[in-house]
Amino acid sequence: MTQWGIIGLGNIAHHFVKDLALVAEAKLYGVASRSEEKARDFAVEHGAQAYFGSYEALLEDPEVKVVYIATPHTSHHKWSMAAIRAGKHVLCEKPLGMNLAEVLEMTQFAQENNVFLMEALWTRFNPSIQEIVAKIKQNQIGKIQYLQADFGFYAMDRDPLSRVLNPLLGGGSLLDIGIYPIFLSYLLLGMPKNILASATYSPQGTELQTAMIFEYEKAKAVLYSGFTSKSSMVAQISGSEGLISIESRWHETQGYQLEKEGEVQSFSKPTTGRGYAHEIHAVHEALNTGQLEQPQWTHKNSCDLVRLLDQVQKITKTPLH
Ligand SMILES: NC(=O)c1ccc[n+]([C@@H]2O[C@H](COP(=O)([O-])OP(=O)(O)OC[C@H]3O[C@@H](n4cnc5c(N)ncnc54)[C@H](OP(=O)(O)O)[C@@H]3O)[C@@H](O)[C@H]2O)c1
Repeated sequence: MTQWGIIGLGNIAHHFVKDLALVAEAKLYGVASRSEEKARDFAVEHGAQAYFGSYEALLEDPEVKVVYIATPHTSHHKWSMAAIRAGKHVLCEKPLGMNLAEVLEMTQFAQENNVFLMEALWTRFNPSIQEIVAKIKQNQIGKIQYLQADFGFYAMDRDPLSRVLNPLLGGGSLLDIGIYPIFLSYLLLGMPKNILASATYSPQGTELQTAMIFEYEKAKAVLYSGFTSKSSMVAQISGSEGLISIESRWHETQGYQLEKEGEVQSFSKPTTGRGYAHEIHAVHEALNTGQLEQPQWTHKNSCDLVRLLDQVQKITKTPLH
C-alpha cells in the first residue's frame, strides 16, 4: 500500500480522491487544508485516516509517502519544493510551475533529493490517447499534416478573485486549459519551429482567450483556449493517410474515431473513474520500479511544455512576464 497525502482541498482534490479509491495499491492517508475544519470535513467525507490544519503539518508526518498538490498554479513551486525537502514523492497539478525557471528548479531539486516528481498531466495516461499515440507510431494515418485542439468554457460569471480569473493566483485560460491543446501538439509533433499567437486580456490583466498556430517543418497545429465561450473540444489529428477525431471533451475522452480510405471506425476506451486513476497507476508503476521520473511524462516533457507556455505568453505580452 502506498500512503497518499493531499494538499489543497478544492474542486480537483474532491474528484482526485474518488479515483484514488479505485486504485487498489493506493491509500488516502492524510489531507491538509489551511483550515482544520475543512480538512476534517474532507477526511470524514472521503475516509482519510488523518487531517491537518496546515500543509506543513502533513509534510512532517512520516506516514505520508506521496503528496498530491492541488493548490493554485502560483503555489505549485512552493509546496512541491517543501514536499521534496520533506522527502516525499510528489504528484503536482498542472502546470508544474509558473515558468521554466520554476520547473527547472523543481525537477533538479527532486533529482538531488532522490524523490519522484511528476506533473499531473492526466491526459497523457488516458486510454484513448495511449492508443492514438501507438497508432500514429505504427504509421496508421501517415504523416501528420494538421492538428486542431481547443479547450473553451464560459467562466466570465466566476468570482474575479477565484483561481480561474485572478491573475495573482495564476488565473487565465492559457495556463489553466490552454496547456491541454499545447500538450497534444507537443505529444504528437514535438517542439514547433515557430509559434504565432494572439490573446485577449481583461481590464484586470487576466488573459481570457488565446489562439495559437504552431508551425512545424511539415505540419500546422491550430490551438485555442478561452473563458469567453464554450468550444466543441473535439480534437482532430489529420494525417496524409487518415484522420483521427477525438471525442469531446477530448482531454478526458472515452473514445475516438479513425477515418481511413472512406471508412470510419469508432473505438470505445472508457476511463477508470473520471480518468485520474490512470495517472495514479503511472505514479505507482514508477515508484515500484524505483524510477524518479515517469517515462511517459518526464521532467524534460514538463520543461518543454512550460517553455511553450512561456513562449506563447511572451508573444501575447502577458502582464505576468
Ligand atoms: N487535472 C484536472 O483535471 C484539473 C482540473 C481542475 C483543476 N486542476 C488544477 O488543480 C489545481 C487546483 O485547481 P482547483 O480547481 O481545485 O482550484 P480550487 O477549487 O480553487 O482549489 C484550490 C485549493 O488550493 C488551496 N489554496 C492554497 N492557497 C490558496 C490561495 N491563495 N487561494 C485559493 N486557494 C488556495 C485551497 O485549499 P485549502 O483551502 O484546503 O487550503 C483551495 O481549495 C490547479 O493547478 C488546476 O490547474 C486540474
